Amino acid sequence: METQTLTESQKVHIETWGCQMNVADSEKMFAMMKEAKYSMAAQPEEADLIILNTCHIREKAKHKVVSHIGRIKELKKTNPNLTIALAGCVAQAEGKKLAIEIPAIDVIIGPGKIDQLPDLVREHKAKGTKNIALGFEKIDYHNERKTKEHQSVYKNIETSLDGKNEVSRFVTIQQGCDNFCTFCVVPFTRGREISYQPQDIVNQAQQLVNNGAQEITLLGQNVNSYGQDLIKNNILPLTTNGPFVDLLATVANIKDLKRLRFTTSNPHDFTKPLAKLFAEQEKLGKYIHLPVQSGSNQILATMKRKVSVEEYYEKVSWLRKSVPDIAISTDLIVGFPGETDEDFEQTYELVKNMNYSFIFAFKYSPRKNTAAIRFKDQIDENIKSSRLQRLNQLQNKITLALNEQEVGQIRNVLFLYESKKEPGIYYGRTPHFRLVRAHSASSIIGKELPVKINGFNATALTGELNI
Ligand code: 5AD
Ligand code: SF4
Repeated sequence: METQTLTESQKVHIETWGCQMNVADSEKMFAMMKEAKYSMAAQPEEADLIILNTCHIREKAKHKVVSHIGRIKELKKTNPNLTIALAGCVAQAEGKKLAIEIPAIDVIIGPGKIDQLPDLVREHKAKGTKNIALGFEKIDYHNERKTKEHQSVYKNIETSLDGKNEVSRFVTIQQGCDNFCTFCVVPFTRGREISYQPQDIVNQAQQLVNNGAQEITLLGQNVNSYGQDLIKNNILPLTTNGPFVDLLATVANIKDLKRLRFTTSNPHDFTKPLAKLFAEQEKLGKYIHLPVQSGSNQILATMKRKVSVEEYYEKVSWLRKSVPDIAISTDLIVGFPGETDEDFEQTYELVKNMNYSFIFAFKYSPRKNTAAIRFKDQIDENIKSSRLQRLNQLQNKITLALNEQEVGQIRNVLFLYESKKEPGIYYGRTPHFRLVRAHSASSIIGKELPVKINGFNATALTGELNI
Protein backbone atom coordinates (compact mmCIF):
# COMPACT_ATOMS: atom_id res chain seq x y z
CA MET A 1 0.00 0.00 0.00
CA GLU A 2 1.14 3.50 -0.81
CA THR A 3 1.88 5.61 2.24
CA GLN A 4 1.78 9.34 2.74
CA THR A 5 3.03 11.83 5.31
CA LEU A 6 0.75 14.52 6.67
CA THR A 7 0.93 17.77 4.75
CA GLU A 8 -0.81 21.09 5.35
CA SER A 9 -3.33 20.56 2.60
CA GLN A 10 -5.25 17.49 3.68
CA LYS A 11 -9.02 17.53 3.40
CA VAL A 12 -11.65 15.66 5.32
CA HIS A 13 -15.20 14.83 4.35
CA ILE A 14 -17.59 13.66 7.07
CA GLU A 15 -20.94 11.98 6.51
CA THR A 16 -23.31 11.59 9.41
CA TRP A 17 -26.24 9.25 9.91
CA GLY A 18 -28.56 8.84 12.85
CA CYS A 19 -29.21 10.87 15.95
CA GLN A 20 -28.09 14.29 17.15
CA MET A 21 -25.46 12.60 19.29
CA ASN A 22 -23.79 11.52 16.05
CA VAL A 23 -24.04 15.05 14.67
CA ALA A 24 -22.32 16.31 17.81
CA ASP A 25 -19.66 13.58 17.51
CA SER A 26 -19.03 14.54 13.88
CA GLU A 27 -18.50 18.14 14.96
CA LYS A 28 -15.98 16.94 17.55
CA MET A 29 -14.21 14.78 14.98
CA PHE A 30 -13.99 17.70 12.58
CA ALA A 31 -12.63 19.93 15.35
CA MET A 32 -9.94 17.35 16.09
CA MET A 33 -8.99 16.92 12.45
CA LYS A 34 -8.85 20.70 12.08
CA GLU A 35 -6.24 20.74 14.84
CA ALA A 36 -4.37 18.14 12.80
CA LYS A 37 -4.36 20.68 9.93
CA TYR A 38 -7.19 19.23 7.91
CA SER A 39 -9.74 21.45 6.19
CA MET A 40 -13.24 20.56 5.07
CA ALA A 41 -13.67 18.96 1.65
CA ALA A 42 -16.76 20.20 -0.12
CA GLN A 43 -17.14 16.90 -1.99
CA PRO A 44 -16.03 13.36 -1.13
CA GLU A 45 -14.04 13.33 -4.40
CA GLU A 46 -11.71 16.04 -2.99
CA ALA A 47 -11.11 14.31 0.32
CA ASP A 48 -7.95 12.63 1.66
CA LEU A 49 -10.00 11.31 4.54
CA ILE A 50 -13.66 10.29 4.50
CA ILE A 51 -15.28 9.63 7.86
CA LEU A 52 -18.55 7.74 7.88
CA ASN A 53 -20.24 8.35 11.21
CA THR A 54 -22.84 5.63 11.31
CA CYS A 55 -26.07 4.54 13.01
CA HIS A 56 -26.96 1.03 14.12
CA ILE A 57 -30.35 1.64 15.73
CA ARG A 58 -32.31 -0.26 13.07
CA GLU A 59 -31.20 -2.79 10.44
CA LYS A 60 -32.19 -0.40 7.64
CA ALA A 61 -29.84 2.26 9.00
CA LYS A 62 -26.98 -0.24 8.91
CA HIS A 63 -27.76 -1.39 5.36
CA LYS A 64 -27.63 2.19 4.11
CA VAL A 65 -24.14 2.56 5.53
CA VAL A 66 -22.82 -0.67 4.07
CA SER A 67 -24.11 0.10 0.58
CA HIS A 68 -22.68 3.61 0.89
CA ILE A 69 -19.22 2.25 1.70
CA GLY A 70 -19.52 0.22 -1.50
CA ARG A 71 -19.79 3.48 -3.48
CA ILE A 72 -17.21 5.46 -1.49
CA LYS A 73 -14.51 2.81 -1.86
CA GLU A 74 -14.60 3.31 -5.65
CA LEU A 75 -13.00 6.73 -5.02
CA LYS A 76 -9.80 4.93 -4.03
CA LYS A 77 -9.32 4.03 -7.69
CA THR A 78 -8.75 7.67 -8.62
CA ASN A 79 -7.29 8.72 -5.27
CA PRO A 80 -5.07 5.98 -3.78
CA ASN A 81 -4.22 8.25 -0.82
CA LEU A 82 -7.82 8.29 0.33
CA THR A 83 -8.32 7.01 3.87
CA ILE A 84 -11.75 5.67 4.79
CA ALA A 85 -12.71 5.75 8.46
CA LEU A 86 -15.75 3.93 9.77
CA ALA A 87 -16.98 5.63 12.94
CA GLY A 88 -20.12 5.57 15.08
CA CYS A 89 -22.40 2.78 16.20
CA VAL A 90 -21.95 0.43 13.21
CA ALA A 91 -18.20 0.61 13.81
CA GLN A 92 -18.66 -0.34 17.46
CA ALA A 93 -21.16 -3.13 16.77
CA GLU A 94 -19.79 -4.66 13.58
CA GLY A 95 -16.47 -2.95 12.90
CA LYS A 96 -14.29 -6.00 13.44
CA LYS A 97 -16.37 -8.04 11.02
CA LEU A 98 -16.62 -5.27 8.44
CA ALA A 99 -12.85 -4.69 8.59
CA ILE A 100 -12.42 -8.19 7.19
CA GLU A 101 -15.35 -8.08 4.77
CA ILE A 102 -14.52 -4.64 3.33
CA PRO A 103 -10.72 -4.22 3.07
CA ALA A 104 -11.18 -0.64 1.81
CA ILE A 105 -11.96 0.48 5.37
CA ASP A 106 -8.70 1.79 6.89
CA VAL A 107 -9.69 3.08 10.30
CA ILE A 108 -12.43 1.77 12.57
CA ILE A 109 -13.32 3.85 15.57
CA GLY A 110 -16.16 3.46 18.06
CA PRO A 111 -18.09 6.30 19.74
CA GLY A 112 -16.11 5.72 22.95
CA LYS A 113 -12.76 6.30 21.27
CA ILE A 114 -13.21 9.31 19.04
CA ASP A 115 -10.49 11.29 20.79
CA GLN A 116 -8.03 8.82 19.21
CA LEU A 117 -9.11 9.65 15.67
CA PRO A 118 -6.21 11.95 14.64
CA ASP A 119 -3.62 9.45 15.91
CA LEU A 120 -5.25 6.51 14.14
CA VAL A 121 -5.46 8.41 10.87
CA ARG A 122 -1.89 9.67 11.18
CA GLU A 123 -0.62 6.17 11.82
CA HIS A 124 -2.56 4.72 8.93
CA LYS A 125 -1.28 7.41 6.56
CA ALA A 126 2.30 6.88 7.74
CA LYS A 127 2.44 3.09 7.89
CA GLY A 128 -0.51 1.87 5.85
CA THR A 129 -1.80 -0.16 8.79
CA LYS A 130 -5.45 -0.82 9.45
CA ASN A 131 -6.17 0.84 12.80
CA ILE A 132 -9.03 -0.13 15.07
CA ALA A 133 -10.16 1.46 18.34
CA LEU A 134 -13.34 0.11 19.87
CA GLY A 135 -14.90 -0.21 23.31
CA PHE A 136 -15.19 2.13 26.25
CA GLU A 137 -12.84 3.35 28.96
CA LYS A 138 -13.93 2.59 32.48
CA ILE A 139 -14.22 6.03 34.00
CA ASP A 140 -12.59 6.68 37.31
CA TYR A 141 -14.53 9.69 38.56
CA HIS A 142 -11.88 10.68 41.05
CA ASN A 143 -8.93 10.42 38.74
CA GLU A 144 -8.06 13.87 37.46
CA ARG A 145 -6.12 12.60 34.44
CA LYS A 146 -8.94 10.37 33.22
CA THR A 147 -11.48 13.13 33.63
CA LYS A 148 -9.28 15.48 31.60
CA GLU A 149 -8.87 12.89 28.88
CA HIS A 150 -12.59 12.49 28.87
CA GLN A 151 -13.08 16.19 28.34
CA SER A 152 -10.51 16.52 25.62
CA VAL A 153 -13.13 16.04 22.91
CA TYR A 154 -14.76 19.28 24.05
CA LYS A 155 -11.94 21.40 22.68
CA ASN A 156 -12.37 23.81 19.82
CA ILE A 157 -15.79 22.83 18.62
CA GLU A 158 -16.34 26.08 16.85
CA THR A 159 -18.14 25.26 13.67
CA SER A 160 -21.04 23.06 12.78
CA LEU A 161 -20.71 20.88 9.71
CA ASP A 162 -23.65 21.57 7.44
CA GLY A 163 -23.98 25.26 8.25
CA LYS A 164 -27.49 24.58 9.55
CA ASN A 165 -26.67 24.78 13.21
CA GLU A 166 -24.31 27.67 13.63
CA VAL A 167 -27.01 29.36 15.69
CA SER A 168 -28.23 26.25 17.42
CA ARG A 169 -25.45 24.12 18.87
CA PHE A 170 -25.24 20.79 20.67
CA VAL A 171 -23.51 20.05 23.95
CA THR A 172 -23.18 16.39 24.89
CA ILE A 173 -23.73 16.12 28.64
CA GLN A 174 -23.74 12.36 29.01
CA GLN A 175 -22.53 9.30 27.17
CA GLY A 176 -24.20 5.92 26.87
CA CYS A 177 -27.23 4.43 28.55
CA ASP A 178 -27.80 2.01 31.43
CA ASN A 179 -31.43 1.22 30.76
CA PHE A 180 -31.20 -1.82 28.50
CA CYS A 181 -34.68 -1.45 27.03
CA THR A 182 -35.07 -4.86 25.42
CA PHE A 183 -35.23 -3.53 21.82
CA CYS A 184 -32.34 -1.12 22.02
CA VAL A 185 -28.77 -1.46 20.84
CA VAL A 186 -27.56 1.81 22.38
CA PRO A 187 -26.15 0.39 25.64
CA PHE A 188 -24.02 -1.92 23.45
CA THR A 189 -22.88 0.67 20.91
CA ARG A 190 -22.43 3.61 23.27
CA GLY A 191 -21.60 1.91 26.51
CA ARG A 192 -22.50 2.73 30.09
CA GLU A 193 -24.03 5.99 31.17
CA ILE A 194 -21.38 8.56 32.06
CA SER A 195 -22.20 12.18 32.90
CA TYR A 196 -19.77 14.99 32.24
CA GLN A 197 -19.06 17.39 35.08
CA PRO A 198 -21.48 20.36 35.33
CA GLN A 199 -18.68 22.92 35.20
CA ASP A 200 -17.29 21.46 31.96
CA ILE A 201 -20.75 21.55 30.39
CA VAL A 202 -21.35 25.13 31.46
CA ASN A 203 -17.92 26.16 30.13
CA GLN A 204 -18.60 24.46 26.82
CA ALA A 205 -22.02 26.12 26.50
CA GLN A 206 -20.51 29.50 27.42
CA GLN A 207 -17.82 29.07 24.78
CA LEU A 208 -20.41 28.27 22.12
CA VAL A 209 -22.49 31.30 23.13
CA ASN A 210 -19.34 33.47 23.00
CA ASN A 211 -18.90 32.19 19.43
CA GLY A 212 -22.41 33.24 18.46
CA ALA A 213 -24.71 30.36 19.44
CA GLN A 214 -28.19 31.52 20.40
CA GLU A 215 -29.64 28.14 21.22
CA ILE A 216 -28.04 25.18 22.99
CA THR A 217 -29.39 21.65 22.98
CA LEU A 218 -28.06 19.43 25.75
CA LEU A 219 -27.66 15.86 24.50
CA GLY A 220 -27.81 12.50 26.21
CA GLN A 221 -29.41 9.15 25.40
CA ASN A 222 -31.23 9.39 28.66
CA VAL A 223 -30.66 13.06 29.20
CA ASN A 224 -32.87 13.66 32.23
CA SER A 225 -31.11 10.97 34.26
CA TYR A 226 -28.02 13.19 33.95
CA GLY A 227 -25.82 13.22 37.04
CA GLN A 228 -27.18 10.18 38.86
CA ASP A 229 -23.78 8.56 38.36
CA LEU A 230 -22.06 11.70 39.68
CA ILE A 231 -24.18 11.51 42.83
CA LYS A 232 -23.40 7.81 43.30
CA ASN A 233 -19.71 8.59 43.02
CA ASN A 234 -19.93 11.48 45.49
CA ILE A 235 -19.02 14.06 42.86
CA LEU A 236 -22.33 15.92 43.23
CA PRO A 237 -24.47 16.31 46.37
CA LEU A 238 -28.14 15.32 46.54
CA THR A 239 -30.30 18.38 45.95
CA THR A 240 -34.04 19.06 46.01
CA ASN A 241 -34.47 19.34 42.26
CA GLY A 242 -31.83 16.83 41.18
CA PRO A 243 -28.70 17.27 39.05
CA PHE A 244 -30.43 17.63 35.67
CA VAL A 245 -32.76 20.44 36.74
CA ASP A 246 -29.85 22.11 38.55
CA LEU A 247 -27.76 21.90 35.39
CA LEU A 248 -30.54 23.33 33.20
CA ALA A 249 -31.02 26.21 35.62
CA THR A 250 -27.28 26.99 35.55
CA VAL A 251 -26.92 26.79 31.76
CA ALA A 252 -30.06 28.91 31.34
CA ASN A 253 -28.31 31.65 33.33
CA ILE A 254 -25.77 32.14 30.55
CA LYS A 255 -26.25 35.70 29.40
CA ASP A 256 -27.01 36.02 25.68
CA LEU A 257 -28.26 32.43 25.44
CA LYS A 258 -31.76 32.74 24.02
CA ARG A 259 -33.01 29.17 24.07
CA LEU A 260 -32.10 26.00 25.88
CA ARG A 261 -33.34 22.60 24.78
CA PHE A 262 -32.50 19.03 25.67
CA THR A 263 -33.00 15.58 24.22
CA THR A 264 -33.77 12.71 24.67
CA SER A 265 -35.78 12.52 27.87
CA ASN A 266 -36.92 9.27 29.34
CA PRO A 267 -40.38 9.28 30.97
CA HIS A 268 -38.98 7.07 33.73
CA ASP A 269 -36.66 9.84 34.94
CA PHE A 270 -39.08 12.68 34.31
CA THR A 271 -39.68 14.58 37.56
CA LYS A 272 -42.08 17.24 38.86
CA PRO A 273 -39.26 19.78 39.35
CA LEU A 274 -38.45 19.40 35.64
CA ALA A 275 -42.08 20.05 34.71
CA LYS A 276 -42.05 23.09 37.00
CA LEU A 277 -38.88 24.45 35.46
CA PHE A 278 -40.69 24.80 32.12
CA ALA A 279 -43.07 27.27 33.77
CA GLU A 280 -40.27 29.22 35.43
CA GLN A 281 -37.63 29.28 32.72
CA GLU A 282 -38.73 30.89 29.48
CA LYS A 283 -35.52 29.89 27.69
CA LEU A 284 -36.67 26.25 27.82
CA GLY A 285 -39.43 27.10 25.34
CA LYS A 286 -42.65 25.17 25.11
CA TYR A 287 -41.61 21.83 23.72
CA ILE A 288 -40.38 18.43 24.86
CA HIS A 289 -39.65 15.12 23.14
CA LEU A 290 -40.83 12.35 25.45
CA PRO A 291 -40.64 8.87 23.89
CA VAL A 292 -43.38 6.52 25.06
CA GLN A 293 -42.69 3.63 22.59
CA SER A 294 -46.08 1.90 23.08
CA GLY A 295 -49.56 2.51 24.46
CA SER A 296 -49.84 -1.03 25.86
CA ASN A 297 -48.72 -1.83 29.40
CA GLN A 298 -48.08 -5.40 28.36
CA ILE A 299 -45.66 -4.29 25.65
CA LEU A 300 -44.06 -1.60 27.83
CA ALA A 301 -43.35 -4.30 30.40
CA THR A 302 -41.66 -6.61 27.89
CA MET A 303 -39.76 -3.62 26.50
CA LYS A 304 -38.58 -3.03 30.12
CA ARG A 305 -39.47 0.65 29.90
CA LYS A 306 -40.19 0.81 33.65
CA VAL A 307 -43.09 3.24 33.11
CA SER A 308 -46.77 2.35 32.65
CA VAL A 309 -49.14 4.12 30.29
CA GLU A 310 -50.90 5.62 33.34
CA GLU A 311 -47.60 6.97 34.71
CA TYR A 312 -46.81 8.46 31.32
CA TYR A 313 -50.18 10.22 31.21
CA GLU A 314 -49.55 11.53 34.72
CA LYS A 315 -46.14 12.94 33.83
CA VAL A 316 -47.58 14.60 30.74
CA SER A 317 -50.28 16.13 32.97
CA TRP A 318 -47.54 17.74 35.14
CA LEU A 319 -46.10 19.30 32.00
CA ARG A 320 -49.47 20.51 30.75
CA LYS A 321 -50.23 21.97 34.16
CA SER A 322 -46.96 23.92 33.99
CA VAL A 323 -47.31 25.00 30.37
CA PRO A 324 -50.87 24.40 29.11
CA ASP A 325 -49.97 24.74 25.42
CA ILE A 326 -46.71 22.75 25.61
CA ALA A 327 -45.91 20.85 22.39
CA ILE A 328 -44.95 17.22 22.91
CA SER A 329 -43.50 14.74 20.44
CA THR A 330 -42.71 11.07 20.90
CA ASP A 331 -41.10 7.90 19.54
CA LEU A 332 -43.15 4.76 18.96
CA ILE A 333 -42.29 1.24 17.94
CA VAL A 334 -44.88 -0.90 16.17
CA GLY A 335 -44.67 -4.65 15.77
CA PHE A 336 -42.59 -5.31 18.87
CA PRO A 337 -42.54 -9.09 19.53
CA GLY A 338 -45.88 -10.22 20.95
CA GLU A 339 -47.73 -7.02 19.97
CA THR A 340 -51.35 -8.10 19.41
CA ASP A 341 -53.98 -6.15 17.48
CA GLU A 342 -55.32 -5.09 20.85
CA ASP A 343 -51.91 -3.83 22.02
CA PHE A 344 -51.58 -1.86 18.82
CA GLU A 345 -55.08 -0.37 19.21
CA GLN A 346 -53.97 0.89 22.63
CA THR A 347 -51.03 2.65 21.00
CA TYR A 348 -53.42 4.08 18.41
CA GLU A 349 -55.70 5.34 21.21
CA LEU A 350 -52.78 6.90 23.05
CA VAL A 351 -51.73 8.80 19.93
CA LYS A 352 -55.33 9.91 19.41
CA ASN A 353 -55.53 11.22 22.99
CA MET A 354 -52.12 12.76 23.34
CA ASN A 355 -52.29 15.42 20.63
CA TYR A 356 -48.58 15.09 19.86
CA SER A 357 -47.12 17.82 17.68
CA PHE A 358 -45.34 15.05 15.76
CA ILE A 359 -44.23 11.45 16.21
CA PHE A 360 -41.35 9.29 15.05
CA ALA A 361 -42.87 5.84 14.53
CA PHE A 362 -40.72 2.85 13.60
CA LYS A 363 -41.22 -0.78 12.71
CA TYR A 364 -39.52 -2.95 15.30
CA SER A 365 -36.13 -4.08 14.01
CA PRO A 366 -34.42 -7.01 15.79
CA ARG A 367 -30.93 -6.01 16.96
CA LYS A 368 -27.96 -8.16 17.82
CA ASN A 369 -27.17 -8.45 21.56
CA THR A 370 -30.56 -7.10 22.65
CA ALA A 371 -32.96 -9.24 24.68
CA ALA A 372 -35.91 -8.85 22.31
CA ILE A 373 -34.15 -10.51 19.38
CA ARG A 374 -34.75 -13.81 21.19
CA PHE A 375 -38.40 -13.13 22.04
CA LYS A 376 -41.02 -15.42 20.59
CA ASP A 377 -43.92 -14.05 18.53
CA GLN A 378 -41.88 -11.87 16.20
CA ILE A 379 -44.40 -9.93 14.10
CA ASP A 380 -44.88 -10.32 10.37
CA GLU A 381 -43.36 -7.45 8.31
CA ASN A 382 -46.66 -6.79 6.50
CA ILE A 383 -48.47 -6.35 9.80
CA LYS A 384 -45.73 -4.00 11.00
CA SER A 385 -46.07 -1.96 7.80
CA SER A 386 -49.82 -1.62 7.99
CA ARG A 387 -49.68 -0.64 11.69
CA LEU A 388 -47.01 1.94 10.93
CA GLN A 389 -49.05 3.36 8.10
CA ARG A 390 -52.20 3.66 10.22
CA LEU A 391 -50.32 5.40 12.99
CA ASN A 392 -48.65 7.85 10.63
CA GLN A 393 -51.94 8.62 8.89
CA LEU A 394 -53.56 9.36 12.25
CA GLN A 395 -50.71 11.58 13.40
CA ASN A 396 -50.59 13.37 10.08
CA LYS A 397 -54.16 14.54 10.62
CA ILE A 398 -53.36 15.63 14.18
CA THR A 399 -50.24 17.52 13.10
CA LEU A 400 -52.13 19.27 10.31
CA ALA A 401 -54.94 20.26 12.70
CA LEU A 402 -52.43 21.64 15.22
CA ASN A 403 -50.54 23.50 12.50
CA GLU A 404 -53.80 24.95 11.17
CA GLN A 405 -54.47 26.40 14.63
CA GLU A 406 -51.21 28.33 14.29
CA VAL A 407 -52.51 30.37 11.37
CA GLY A 408 -53.10 33.95 12.46
CA GLN A 409 -50.84 33.61 15.53
CA ILE A 410 -47.77 35.76 16.02
CA ARG A 411 -44.82 33.60 17.09
CA ASN A 412 -41.28 34.50 18.09
CA VAL A 413 -39.16 32.60 15.61
CA LEU A 414 -35.45 32.03 16.08
CA PHE A 415 -34.09 31.87 12.54
CA LEU A 416 -31.50 29.16 12.00
CA TYR A 417 -30.53 28.85 8.33
CA GLU A 418 -31.25 29.94 4.77
CA SER A 419 -32.69 27.50 2.27
CA LYS A 420 -30.01 26.24 -0.11
CA LYS A 421 -32.53 25.74 -2.93
CA GLU A 422 -34.50 28.94 -2.41
CA PRO A 423 -32.25 31.88 -1.50
CA GLY A 424 -34.11 34.48 0.55
CA ILE A 425 -36.19 31.81 2.30
CA TYR A 426 -35.18 31.41 5.94
CA TYR A 427 -36.08 28.63 8.35
CA GLY A 428 -36.48 28.96 12.07
CA ARG A 429 -38.37 27.51 15.00
CA THR A 430 -41.11 28.76 17.30
CA PRO A 431 -40.81 28.18 21.08
CA HIS A 432 -43.06 25.15 20.40
CA PHE A 433 -40.35 23.81 18.05
CA ARG A 434 -42.52 24.25 14.97
CA LEU A 435 -40.51 24.86 11.82
CA VAL A 436 -41.36 28.17 10.13
CA ARG A 437 -40.32 29.42 6.71
CA ALA A 438 -40.34 33.09 5.89
CA HIS A 439 -38.93 35.36 3.21
CA SER A 440 -36.45 38.10 3.95
CA ALA A 441 -34.41 40.33 1.63
CA SER A 442 -31.45 40.32 4.03
CA SER A 443 -30.08 37.63 6.34
CA ILE A 444 -32.06 37.03 9.52
CA ILE A 445 -30.00 34.05 10.69
CA GLY A 446 -29.55 34.19 14.45
CA LYS A 447 -32.36 36.69 14.94
CA GLU A 448 -35.44 36.04 17.00
CA LEU A 449 -38.29 37.86 15.30
CA PRO A 450 -42.08 38.00 15.57
CA VAL A 451 -43.65 36.22 12.62
CA LYS A 452 -47.30 36.18 11.62
CA ILE A 453 -48.19 32.62 10.62
CA ASN A 454 -50.21 32.55 7.41
CA GLY A 455 -49.93 29.01 6.06
CA PHE A 456 -48.99 25.45 6.91
CA ASN A 457 -48.40 21.90 5.77
CA ALA A 458 -47.50 18.78 7.77
CA THR A 459 -43.82 19.69 8.12
CA ALA A 460 -43.68 23.48 8.33
CA LEU A 461 -45.57 26.69 8.87
CA THR A 462 -45.14 29.71 6.63
CA GLY A 463 -45.17 33.23 7.92
CA GLU A 464 -44.43 36.86 7.23
CA LEU A 465 -42.03 39.22 8.93
CA ASN A 466 -42.33 42.97 9.48
CA ILE A 467 -45.66 42.95 11.19
N1 5AD B 1 -36.40 -1.14 16.30
C1 5AD B 1 -37.16 -0.08 15.97
N2 5AD B 1 -37.03 1.13 16.54
C2 5AD B 1 -36.09 1.28 17.49
N3 5AD B 1 -35.73 2.34 18.24
C3 5AD B 1 -34.72 1.96 19.03
N4 5AD B 1 -34.41 0.67 18.84
C4 5AD B 1 -35.26 0.21 17.88
C5 5AD B 1 -35.44 -1.03 17.24
N5 5AD B 1 -34.72 -2.10 17.58
C6 5AD B 1 -36.42 3.63 18.18
C7 5AD B 1 -37.01 4.00 19.54
C8 5AD B 1 -36.08 5.06 20.02
C9 5AD B 1 -35.66 5.71 18.72
C10 5AD B 1 -34.42 6.53 18.80
O1 5AD B 1 -35.48 4.64 17.84
O2 5AD B 1 -38.31 4.50 19.32
O3 5AD B 1 -36.70 5.97 20.89
FE1 SF4 C 1 -32.20 2.72 24.22
FE2 SF4 C 1 -33.89 2.62 26.31
FE3 SF4 C 1 -31.41 3.70 26.59
FE4 SF4 C 1 -33.26 4.99 25.13
S1 SF4 C 1 -33.39 4.55 27.34
S2 SF4 C 1 -31.10 4.66 24.57
S3 SF4 C 1 -34.39 3.31 24.21
S4 SF4 C 1 -31.89 1.55 26.13
